Amino acid sequence: MHVLVTGGAGYIGSHTCLCLLEEGFSVTVIDNFCNSSPEALRRVQALAGRSLTLIKGDVRDAATLDAAFAGPRIDAVIHFAGLKAVGESVAEPMLYYDNNVAGTFNLLQAMQRAKVSTVVFSSSATVYGDPAPEDLPLEETSPTGITHSPYATSKWMVERCLADLHTAQPQWRIARLRYFNPVGAHPSGRIGENPSGTPNNLMPFISQVACGTRPMLSIFGGDYPTHDGTGVRDYIHVMDLAEGHVATLKYLANRPNGDLLTLNLGTGQGCSVLDVVKAFEAASGQTVPYQIVARRPGDVPAYYADSTQAQELLHWKAKRTLHDMCADTWRWQAANPKGYASE
Ligand code: NAD
Ligand code: WQD
Repeated sequence: MHVLVTGGAGYIGSHTCLCLLEEGFSVTVIDNFCNSSPEALRRVQALAGRSLTLIKGDVRDAATLDAAFAGPRIDAVIHFAGLKAVGESVAEPMLYYDNNVAGTFNLLQAMQRAKVSTVVFSSSATVYGDPAPEDLPLEETSPTGITHSPYATSKWMVERCLADLHTAQPQWRIARLRYFNPVGAHPSGRIGENPSGTPNNLMPFISQVACGTRPMLSIFGGDYPTHDGTGVRDYIHVMDLAEGHVATLKYLANRPNGDLLTLNLGTGQGCSVLDVVKAFEAASGQTVPYQIVARRPGDVPAYYADSTQAQELLHWKAKRTLHDMCADTWRWQAANPKGYASE
């Protein structure tokens, strides 16, 4: 099976490409490297002992996509390419609608021209908005669409578009995967998350504090209605997430009459910011100095997934622990303090 992976050089894409190569899939990546480095894919190929095809290009460019589909027959697409910084999306909404929504429409139109109708889309738990405590754990049928950022709205819009496409053309095989909070790195320490500038997300910030790049973690809010007052999330190891994509492709391959899957990919466990700090200190042997500051605007107190649907349909389950997530993040961070620019 030949898979086109858009955004394959990015954090989740690179780990997924490695799993695909290890499972015997042929892989072509399209990436414009706006938030990634070709070094990630060099390392993926070295780890896998197999090569992939790389096209440097933009999913908003129809000619690039048509050229990709004109090569060796592509059986399925995993669509990671997009922008993901929530705060930036508030400041630059058109950038987000252009990359995430127009980019996806362009890809789906190119797929129609090429008669490729299997697609796995990177959605996000953010489509659930600000869930009420009684809505936890979040099920796929929990309310969506009351979004709080253009980023979240862009994911929700694409989800709707994919559902409409499936209604009109039920032979399409579509998976809308709602990731919770991906963290961690490949256990080799060779590939991992490579944020540019100040990390927005908790785990890369903690790991940069632990290695001395930043002096202290600011914990956004200590007065949430959670077990220790700090925000609760469902952190999932990026390798579990990557394996979830392989399981999804295998599932869709056996749906000859089409399907529209909507699945949460999480662990089902809620961990607080302080839980993560303590687990990171234990896994790394480093101290993570922190201060509790005001809540971050737009943050919700708690959310975590009900992932039983993914378990039942895909025979997939997130199996790595919070300790694994922290130990693997630290191995990557310690060996690559400047990410892919370290070498
Ligand atoms: P990432 O930024 O590391 O990877 C995205 C990749 O897409 C990068 O390599 C980037 O260069 C590329 N890209 C962006 N716009 C492009 C375009 N127009 N054309 C071609 N390539 C383009 O992000 P990630 O964490 O790997 O996330 C992958 C996907 O998963 C994104 O769609 C993101 O919204 C979604 N997602 C991420 C998270 C998370 O917390 N990391 C959570 C839920 C959903
Ligand atoms: C986690 C917890 C923060 C940084 C975001 C997106 C979401 C999805 C995943 C793409 C929260 C706290 C964080 C820090 C802190 N991405 N925190 N100090 O906000 O749950 O989700 O990434 O789809 O759409 O919104 O993740 O890692 O930023 O925060 O205290 O320096 O850590 O308040 O409780 P979040 P996060």
